[in-house]
Amino acid sequence: MAIQKEQIRSALVHVMHPDFGKDLITLDLIQDLIVQDKYVSFTLELTEKNDALAHSLKEQCAGAVRRFVDKDAVLDITVGINISRKRELEGSAGAGPGAQTAANHGNSPQGPTGSGAAGTAPPRVLANVRNVIAVASGKGGVGKSTVAANLAVSLAQTGLRVGLMDTDIYGPSVPTMFGVHERPGITTDKKLVPIHKHGVHLVSMGFLVDPDQAMIWRGPMVTSAIKQFMQEVRWPDLDIMILDLPPGTGDIQLTIVQTVPLTGAVIVSTPQTVALDDALKGVAMFEKVNVPVLGIIENMAYFSPPDMPGKKYYLFGKHGARKLADRLEVPFLGEIPIREDIRERADTGTPIVLADPQSESAAAFTEIAGRVLNAVETKNREQESTQKIDITIRP
Ligand SMILES: Nc1ncnc2c1ncn2[C@@H]1O[C@H](COP(=O)(O)OP(=O)(O)O)[C@@H](O)[C@H]1O
Ligand SMILES: [Mg+2]
Repeated sequence: MAIQKEQIRSALVHVMHPDFGKDLITLDLIQDLIVQDKYVSFTLELTEKNDALAHSLKEQCAGAVRRFVDKDAVLDITVGINISRKRELEGSAGAGPGAQTAANHGNSPQGPTGSGAAGTAPPRVLANVRNVIAVASGKGGVGKSTVAANLAVSLAQTGLRVGLMDTDIYGPSVPTMFGVHERPGITTDKKLVPIHKHGVHLVSMGFLVDPDQAMIWRGPMVTSAIKQFMQEVRWPDLDIMILDLPPGTGDIQLTIVQTVPLTGAVIVSTPQTVALDDALKGVAMFEKVNVPVLGIIENMAYFSPPDMPGKKYYLFGKHGARKLADRLEVPFLGEIPIREDIRERADTGTPIVLADPQSESAAAFTEIAGRVLNAVETKNREQESTQKIDITIRP
């Protein structure tokens, strides 16, 4: 007989977590459960890397399923590490004061812990940041982080107080693009202090997480880690924060968009059709959640050989992102050519607008930064900052 998901859940109630003194279902540590006939797969979420514990719990899970459900079940158990849940679970193990808030839209199936969100009322995120601008793209590799880094430095050069938050857990760029290799400081109340470099206050998931480790994280773990990360940084007062979003338009991006009160979003695209299709999804995502799209930036728009500066080769097609902006009736913020110095400066830790401010490449970014600033000011005059929107996400 085909196995049912509920049978698996009931079986796993028999497996206790030795550190938290409760079973894996109550602790909500079983994620992504898939059952097909006799095939059972799920992620066992642990709060730290501990091979012995992982092995023992996997064995116990397999034993419980075979004993209580079906002795011929075929199990495929992945172990994931979600450090962000450690404190919450420790709190629940200690019969905490039940500090859960009604605002918790968590989707934990059951359990007195009401797990799913941190055990305190969510603090107002980024309360001392006046404007938050998300830099997004449908696709990876289109130069989103390069644009975010140069935008941030360029805005700081105008005298604004600027922060840059790199939320791309699978491919953080800030450490490389800003040449930051040290770990951020921690305050006595355990908040992260951004690193100040090239005039910008920086925080990156890359400061905390080894990207190789992050590869095994599943979506739900990433979203909860990012949420916590956003709430636990001691930002100074900032005029503008640039948020470098992970590529794509899925749950992770949606979570961020709903966690932070965004002033607006900027979409980066290259001119070719495959990238434009994804940029379109990006625009649609922000419109769906009522975040104004401040405009589209066309990166890698053309190539001019150094010995023929007047000549432009449109390697990926001509004006693709500009046409998309026209079609969608969102502002076009400008184009950035493909240039070796942009890549080189990004790789060596100093964004081109700082490394070579007189260059043509820097001029392209500076011009765009000016337009972004204008768009922000216009928007602020016209309407109140976008309110936080509640979307219940099913990871
Ligand atoms: N206009 C450009 N000219 C040359 N290289 C670029 C340009 N924009 C981005 N790159 C390079 O392309 C690669 C991907 O850029 P990145 O900003 O990391 O993309 P994303 O954040 O969208 O994944 C990097 O090596 C970067 O230096
Ligand atoms: Mg990136």
